[in-house]
Amino acid sequence: MSNPTIESILNEKRLFQPPAELSAQAEIKSFAEYEALYAKAKADPAAFWAELAERELHWFQKWDTTLDWQPPFAKWFVGGKLNISYNCLDRHLTTWRKNKAALIWEGEPGDSRTLTYAQLHREVCQMANVLKNLGVHKGDRVGIYMPMIPEAAIAMLACARIGAAHSVVFGGFSAEALRDRLVDAEAKLVITADGGFRKDKVVALKEQVDNALANNAAPSVKNVLVVQRTKEPIHMEAGRDRWWHELQAEASADCPAEPMDSEDTLFILYTSGSTGKPKGVVHTTGGYNLYTHMTAKWTFDLKDTDVYWCTADVGWITGHSYIVYGPLSNGATTVMYEGVPRPSNPGCFWDVIEKYGVTIFYTAPTAIRTFIKMGEQHPNARNLSSLRILGTVGEPINPEAWMWYHQVIGKERCPIVDTWWQTETGGFMIAPLASATPTKPGSATRPFPGILADVVDLDGNPAPDNEGGYLVITHPWPSMLRTVYGDADRFRKTYWEHIPPKDGKYLYFAGDGARRDEDGYFWIMGRVDDVISVSGHRLGTMEIESALVSHPAVAEAAVVGCPDELKGEDVFAFVTLEGTYTASDALKDELKKHVVGEIGAIARPGEIRFADALPKTRSGKIMRRLLRTLASGAEISGDTSTLEDRTVLDALREER
Ligand code: WT7
Repeated sequence: MSNPTIESILNEKRLFQPPAELSAQAEIKSFAEYEALYAKAKADPAAFWAELAERELHWFQKWDTTLDWQPPFAKWFVGGKLNISYNCLDRHLTTWRKNKAALIWEGEPGDSRTLTYAQLHREVCQMANVLKNLGVHKGDRVGIYMPMIPEAAIAMLACARIGAAHSVVFGGFSAEALRDRLVDAEAKLVITADGGFRKDKVVALKEQVDNALANNAAPSVKNVLVVQRTKEPIHMEAGRDRWWHELQAEASADCPAEPMDSEDTLFILYTSGSTGKPKGVVHTTGGYNLYTHMTAKWTFDLKDTDVYWCTADVGWITGHSYIVYGPLSNGATTVMYEGVPRPSNPGCFWDVIEKYGVTIFYTAPTAIRTFIKMGEQHPNARNLSSLRILGTVGEPINPEAWMWYHQVIGKERCPIVDTWWQTETGGFMIAPLASATPTKPGSATRPFPGILADVVDLDGNPAPDNEGGYLVITHPWPSMLRTVYGDADRFRKTYWEHIPPKDGKYLYFAGDGARRDEDGYFWIMGRVDDVISVSGHRLGTMEIESALVSHPAVAEAAVVGCPDELKGEDVFAFVTLEGTYTASDALKDELKKHVVGEIGAIARPGEIRFADALPKTRSGKIMRRLLRTLASGAEISGDTSTLEDRTVLDALREER
């Protein structure tokens, strides 16, 4: 098993057709239908989206202008009024879906809960009233730091209902990382739980919130709302902290959805970039609602009879768009699972599929590689016959893992949708439609209808077929990020001016390398910036370097990604020490712990190598290319003539 290598991907010629029975009863029945739809959308993207917005969503008031594009700032459905919680809940209550399962939840210790649309609506309305009673108003920001429990989705929908923007922070982030995000978003309230269950352990979430708020470090936060999950004893700060269940018991279930402007902020979600601190990616209401609705519907061929399960955490965009908003807007049954695969429970995913009869299963290549390693006896011992569609996201999937997924999990009858997208794009950009697009292992295939994608050089000139280049989007789309919270300049520079605009034509720079083949299929080659992906989690190397340098022993640090069989990439840190410190294994462990404290366990360096000096150019720039090569264990080849001091390199090599 290996990660996608250029050779294995270039030689990949297999083509898999969607099963005929699946296509026959789908909305988009063939590749020809997809191509016709794509051509229609391309000819007039705004008209295409307007038609769907009218047909698929409920609006309190129709928009005047479909797209107002003042590059690089886009507004969609200008003047329109809607509420995504209304589209996800209320509108289903007047149909037979009222008592359909909206959310099926499986807890880590084996507890479970099912909420029908009517029940979910009721709890969301109550929580919306709780938020109002705590002084949260339309336009405020609310931090959500939760385990994978139904209350996380309820909290998000309650915010959306009253027009407060949520900012979900993944429960695996440290108190420091949480504080940075709460401060940047100026959150008024934090919703959390006493704790959560993760990998056979209890995670003390509330304690992390206490640490984040200590010494009035996030002064905007007035209240903390706490869900009782683990029942472990916790500190409740008088006047600040309130129990969710106590306030819920007193709250009215009558809370009409606030008519929101299309362009009102729905949420902020922080993500890592190549420079500086994480960026608050801003998504707005109308375009995001439409786009996540359409992509969930067509990519997964989502039907009322489906039991749909996305294994992501709600702390990431995948959880936002494809556990909560996209599926619920479609009236689907969405499964939420608190556990993660681990050696003590190697069959847990397959148990959930069997127990609930999951029909659509969406996970990440890193999980698939973990299952391969755990052995096929685990899935083989369960009944997976309910499955009809499989999905993958987060990083390029190597053809070997794709084939295993296809054969062992899908029994060669389930199409695999490899979905390329980003926090910034809000929804799937390049992905097959399960019912229509023939798939090639390792390719995310074709752009979604209405998405204009290209592979270009740094001047914006299209690359010839099969030659690598930079992946760009050449026309605005409904769920594109609108800005970086509080930093429009960074938004402009990072995404729209990386490739200089020509004649008023702006290209969205995704940060990924890609190749387009002779069939117009896209092959994503990975990040081209200083962003690494560890188990599909996006990390900025600079963030980890800053975390290391904040330790008194560290003089200088350079972090690169190195290939890892299971995680795709792992964090590899080169560190030089302050004069009074000496290298030791104990210090390595301490530095790893320090990074965990600063960012979270996902950023823990797999390896730290101490060095006397880092390889630099004569102008003082760290030569990351060399460090990446060293970290991968390969020999340095190519040009090293710009290196200031060649002995540095020899010393680093000997360390091995
Ligand atoms: C980056 C975005 C979008 C949800 C999860 C990650 C990589 C994502 C794929 C895919 C190859 C992929 C890209 C992208 N990526 N999906 N199917 N094939 N690479 O969201 O944290 O915003 O990361 O993940 O490098 O730029 P994110």
